[in-house]
Amino acid sequence: MKVRGAVRPPGDKSISHRALMLAALAHGRSELAGLLTGEDVKSTARVLRQLGAVISPIRDGGTVTVRASRITHPASRLHCGNSGTTARLMLGVLAGQRFPATLTGDASLRRRPMRRVTEPLRAMGADIEEERGDALPLTIRGGRLHPLAYTSPVASAQVKSALLLAGLSGGVAVSVREPYLSRDHTERLFLHLGLALRLEHGAISFHPPAPTVPPFRLSIPGDASSAAFLVAAAVLAEGGELAIENAGVNPTRTGFLVVLERMGARVERVNLRDEGGEPVADLIARPAALQGTVVTAAEVPTLVDEVPILAVLASRAEGETVFREVGELRVKESNRLELIAANLRAVGVAAEAQGNDLHVRGTTRPPGGRVETARDHRLAMAFAVLATLPGADVRLSERASVAISYPGFFRDLERMNGARHRD
Ligand code: S3P
Repeated sequence: MKVRGAVRPPGDKSISHRALMLAALAHGRSELAGLLTGEDVKSTARVLRQLGAVISPIRDGGTVTVRASRITHPASRLHCGNSGTTARLMLGVLAGQRFPATLTGDASLRRRPMRRVTEPLRAMGADIEEERGDALPLTIRGGRLHPLAYTSPVASAQVKSALLLAGLSGGVAVSVREPYLSRDHTERLFLHLGLALRLEHGAISFHPPAPTVPPFRLSIPGDASSAAFLVAAAVLAEGGELAIENAGVNPTRTGFLVVLERMGARVERVNLRDEGGEPVADLIARPAALQGTVVTAAEVPTLVDEVPILAVLASRAEGETVFREVGELRVKESNRLELIAANLRAVGVAAEAQGNDLHVRGTTRPPGGRVETARDHRLAMAFAVLATLPGADVRLSERASVAISYPGFFRDLERMNGARHRD
């Protein structure tokens, strides 16, 4: 296809969750513009409403208002849907509250590990009861917490954020060290709200000034991870140019663009600006010939959600691409590591998980075959982009999962296809 025009990716999923949670911990009325309308963010809103926050409907283009005073005991289980961020960050929020609450989720979320968050929260003094080992459902009863200095074995923004939120809701100091810097949206939002956060000897340290958060107004930038699918479609196109407007370019999220540049595709950033402490730009993407590369372990946290689409791009590059230390992908919405490799093979690409590394060998043969998405939104979108190649015959097992993070994805993919509307 040829690409043309301009597309605006939906609101950033990570920032949307955090903005809703902090607004629910604030005393007063907050206003959030550009919030993602995807299912994961609706899960966070649903859970916060069960805890007493009053949140206006989450609709495209509208401003969402959050009125909160104090969160209270929920009448029933808190269902986090498919959203790992909802479950893990809410465990942090609930650790500082003096009532019991049970969290659960859909079948995919109930398979995901939770001890990475519950262990440090227990060390802070939260009481957490497991029903099925290291997984949801979990019942948490928070209370009087102790300060914690924690070194996380994984570079996970969910772990770091859960602990910072526990410090905030429980009114205790927390410091977190991680092996590599993961996305820093929680830190940026804390700073934007005037909450005392410092970088001390390589650790993020938070000393809660007072247990109250001021109500706030925030405009949420477009999601860098959703933008990545649009950029990739433009890179693989036969011609044209695509503008991706209002995309977040926080350096902890733009590893995709760094790797892409190494592979031979330079994406221009124009109109660089700041939105609520986050860097934002318009991206200009064009078709390019790609070379294989090595993605290092240190880069992985900055592109952790982009491995599916980068692997798809690698399948069109000259030579081999290796993704080092991507074992975390086994515990995402699906076993992404195995499914990326299996689905690439299913469409005629040589790909293999070797230990915690992923190897993909590029080809020029048009892809053809059936892709099993396992209802994982990022697998569905990555292979939908592959399906835009000339001569491709790629069939997806389902498309509905894109509603988790990018409800308008297929509409936008269709709209940017300049070849269809032409002359
Ligand atoms: C997220 C952190 C990442 C990412 C997820 C969203 C967040 O997970 O994969 O989609 O909003 O904090 P990990 O913290 O498990 O790496």
